[in-house]
Amino acid sequence: MEYSDHFVYRGNQLYAEDCSVADLAKKYGTPLYIYSHDSLKQAFLNYDTNLAVPHTICYSVKANSNLAVLQLMASLGSGFDIVSKGELARVVAAGGDPSKVVYSGVGKRDDEIRYALEKGIYCFNAESKMELKTISDVAVSMNLKAPVALRVNPDVDPHTHHHIATGLKTSKFGVAWEDVLNVYEYASSLPGLQIKGVDCHIGSQIASLSPFAEMAEKIRTLAVTLKERYGIEFIDVGGGLGINYDNDGVPATADYMKLLESYFKDLGLRLVLEPGRSVVGNAGILVTRVQYLKQGASNFIIVDAGMNDMIRPALYSAWMNISEVDRSGASSAVKSTVVGPICESSDKLGEDRLLAVKQGDLLVQFSAGAYGFSMSSNYNSRPRAAEVMVKGDRDFEIRTRETVEDLWRGEHLL
Ligand code: LLP
Repeated sequence: MEYSDHFVYRGNQLYAEDCSVADLAKKYGTPLYIYSHDSLKQAFLNYDTNLAVPHTICYSVKANSNLAVLQLMASLGSGFDIVSKGELARVVAAGGDPSKVVYSGVGKRDDEIRYALEKGIYCFNAESKMELKTISDVAVSMNLKAPVALRVNPDVDPHTHHHIATGLKTSKFGVAWEDVLNVYEYASSLPGLQIKGVDCHIGSQIASLSPFAEMAEKIRTLAVTLKERYGIEFIDVGGGLGINYDNDGVPATADYMKLLESYFKDLGLRLVLEPGRSVVGNAGILVTRVQYLKQGASNFIIVDAGMNDMIRPALYSAWMNISEVDRSGASSAVKSTVVGPICESSDKLGEDRLLAVKQGDLLVQFSAGAYGFSMSSNYNSRPRAAEVMVKGDRDFEIRTRETVEDLWRGEHLL
């Protein structure tokens, strides 16, 4: 199965655009993240060019925050959805435009709010009365009015993994639906705020359009009221579509854009979208080398990428496709469990996979561009992987592999 036009087998060899993945692994070592420039660009344009309503696509930085990825997005005209001062600083360092930044998250600190106001972001998506008060106080102390939207919780079931469902009543996110108008009224009474929009985000890896339709229906009605009362100028519909990890059959981006048009075209409001996974997910792969083979309860393939490099299978029981970089031995494949070197039983990249490998061979995990490197850690004191972006037959090292000395940068002996 192929996930992108940009990671394809030529004969038995996997290519990233026009670069041999085996050659890249030799040049940069493993574990190695590889991203395709054109795949990233195409996925962004699938949103930007298919939506016939005034809009800003705010790429969600958390999915993959490498500076070169942000730089590419900025060059395509993208705005950014951020959740911390660190993410905003990355956007600025990558040449992104702060006036196209929306700031999400339930726990913004004073210093983060101040920094965002200094940079002149487009809007804060606030989630509680206390947060509104804090944003107002900081703005007043700077003689400014802070642009705000309320993240509302429309109580829609996104039918996704419970760790990444955010729009249910029981979630910590957003303002409860029945309180929304009261909280807007409160916001309008605060001296440091300027009400600009309404925001929601119901979850991630959503594999059908129906939860989005349910959300759009509710938000549309609310937005009409808010436009009348407060003259709001935008509706932020949150994150994007899920992606194919298996043959999940997710809808085409263009169809989601048509759905948004059908609900929002006549309102005279700007749409803001915050897609992350669907922009970078299938534009990236993780390449790892087989260290050992071991027979136990299963055929274990022990590789050099662990849950510190890719935590999605361990954290969300996520299924991600794994294949050989060189498929010439595929006919002798055996059912195997692919595990990393970390001292945790959950350190698995995949179970029950038909694979044919010997020591020293390379495996690839597809769909690894989103929430892969950005969630990686130094657990077990493992330096984080290198990241490379390919464009045609050229490769760019966009993050150097960490060294062992990097592991204790900032630590001090007594
Ligand atoms: N906007 C907000 C407010 C969000 O919380 C998120 C994701 C997004 C946008 C982007 O959503 P996307 O387009 O990527 O679905 N680590 C998990 C996913 C966590 C999603 C968190 N929020 C995973 O690996 O599946």
